[in-house]
Amino acid sequence: MEEKAGARPAAGAERKPGMTGGRQGGPGGKFRAVEKPKNVKNTIARLLGYLKEDKYKLVIVFACVIAATICNLAGSYMLRPIINGLGDDFLRYQQSTDKAAVVVSATANLVKKLAIMAAIYGVGIIATYLQQRIMIGISQNALLKLRNDLFHKLQSLPIRFFDTNSHGELMSRFTNDVDTIGEMLNNTLVQLFSGSITIIGTIILMFYTNIWLSLIILVMMPVLTKAGGFIAKQGRRHFAAQQAALGALNGYIEESVTGQKVVKVFCHEDTCIKEFDALNAGLRDKQIKAQFIGGIMGPVMGNLSQINYSLVVCVGGLLCITNGFDVGGLTVFANYSRQFSRPINEISMQVNTIFTALAGAERVFSIMDQEPEVMDEKEAVELKEVKGEVVLDHVTFGYNPDKVILKDISLYAKPGQKIAFVGSTGAGKTTITNLLNRFYEINEGQITIDKIPIGKIRKDSLREHIAMVLQDTHLFTGTVRENIRYGRLDATDEEVEAAARTASAHSFIMRLSDGYDTMLEGDGANLSQGQRQLLNIARAALSKAPILVLDEATSSVDTRTEKHIEHGMDRLMRNRTTFVIAHRLSTVRNADAIMVLENGEIIERGTHEDLLAQKGRYYNLYTGLQELD
Ligand SMILES: Nc1ncnc2c1ncn2[C@@H]1O[C@H](COP(=O)(O)OP(=O)(O)OP(=O)(O)O)[C@@H](O)[C@H]1O
Ligand SMILES: [Mg+2]
Repeated sequence: MEEKAGARPAAGAERKPGMTGGRQGGPGGKFRAVEKPKNVKNTIARLLGYLKEDKYKLVIVFACVIAATICNLAGSYMLRPIINGLGDDFLRYQQSTDKAAVVVSATANLVKKLAIMAAIYGVGIIATYLQQRIMIGISQNALLKLRNDLFHKLQSLPIRFFDTNSHGELMSRFTNDVDTIGEMLNNTLVQLFSGSITIIGTIILMFYTNIWLSLIILVMMPVLTKAGGFIAKQGRRHFAAQQAALGALNGYIEESVTGQKVVKVFCHEDTCIKEFDALNAGLRDKQIKAQFIGGIMGPVMGNLSQINYSLVVCVGGLLCITNGFDVGGLTVFANYSRQFSRPINEISMQVNTIFTALAGAERVFSIMDQEPEVMDEKEAVELKEVKGEVVLDHVTFGYNPDKVILKDISLYAKPGQKIAFVGSTGAGKTTITNLLNRFYEINEGQITIDKIPIGKIRKDSLREHIAMVLQDTHLFTGTVRENIRYGRLDATDEEVEAAARTASAHSFIMRLSDGYDTMLEGDGANLSQGQRQLLNIARAALSKAPILVLDEATSSVDTRTEKHIEHGMDRLMRNRTTFVIAHRLSTVRNADAIMVLENGEIIERGTHEDLLAQKGRYYNLYTGLQELD
């Protein structure tokens, strides 16, 4: 037990940094842990493919970005003539005798220039608005297509894929990865572009305004960038550690909440609390470091750029006195020197977002590149008027080629017969059902339905003709009625109710708060295990498929209800070939043939009476169980 409890946090720790709480605000947000994508070029090309449809809109967006950036730069440059004009007017005012006339003309001048400045900024605002509106539309469209493609792909993937991939990981493709891609498309692309233009534009304007001051900036800038880069690197390191700790803690909490019953059953509360305390303290330590760095980043950078600013103003002031540099020029230059580091910092931050998003996109695309379920052959046929003769002919199968699970299974089921499989856990009973509806393809041998090999039948047609009650029940969010109707979408309410009666589910459904309209949530968490099974049986009963597979369908149902179901199903099964898997041997007694499976082989077969007479494995199972009873 100790070991098990100890192993739990590891599950959380495996989460990718950033999976949980990755996008929360706070200082950590600046330092998203960076994941390196493997094939940047290819991934970008594929992502761009999602924007292709909107390429003209993209051109408009970039035109708007250019316009907005130019307006921004030009607007701030307007300060120069405004301040210089004011200086000139001041001198005129000092020297003039008609002071009132100077005031009037100075005001008119000022208003004119301010109006021009406002107009420039106005155009900039409109351009920014347009750019935002259009870009969000483009990126949301792209995300829509991406999610669509991903979901369509998921529906086409073979069961093997879902059996071998963690569901949590698959879900995080839809949530986290698509989210980060969205974030990149929404903001990053535009910011990267506008940041670059701003930097180039600012450099040009700075050199245009004053060469000497520009040289100071060019020397200071690398120092500032290096310092910022150093702090950001530290921040990223600590932030990644913080995210890992957060992931571990969240994973632990999640497991504790979902597994609380087991924790209580084994009296593990104290161990749990101890383990939680350790993780919690770990998170605090990591957070202190990460948040501290996040907190000082702003002030440190602010102070450094203040030094830069003061230097520019000092030297600029001297140039004004000695070199005839205009005060307006100094003002706009000082502004530029302050603004200059912003786009640089922004771009360096965006690079992280881009890497994270590309890594996410890579994971999304890797799912899209998965082999889909084997396609139907061209000449695959549709089943029509199936009688229900099922033959397994020397079938051999293994989930992995190197490990055979089913060995040389042969059996013949006449239409309408009931064939039962019994045998110990892990013998391969469910595996046979997986082969019948081609969740997995057989390695050797052949399965035929009405003499047609199932490999030559279209999959949808094949599955339409086989109704299954799976060993793991599943109910979708929706009403009881909708869940039963899943078995046949065009069934009427009366048919749904009849199916429920057949499955002995009607009486308990009527006792639910809203009867057939009761909402089921979280895989039917508000129902008992047996009730969930009854709904699954009702679903299969509703289907008109001529072949029925019941895998431990009644294992959680009491024996009396099971008898009821049997009677109901007998009517239903009369014309259907039925495969029944059950551990409870009373369930299979009346089968036409019982197959006893052991280690993937049929070791005994015959009717209940035959097998008892053989005094072999089945006899032992049956009599042993009776003794236990
Ligand atoms: N998706 C899978 N991938 C690889 N191996 C699997 C897979 N599913 C089952 N197996 C293996 O195949 C064997 C047979 O499993 P199967 O589910 O058919 O047993 P079963 O007879 O239905 O047992 P139970 O009575 O417990 O339901 C087991 O050894 C199991 O470990
Ligand atoms: Mg099974």
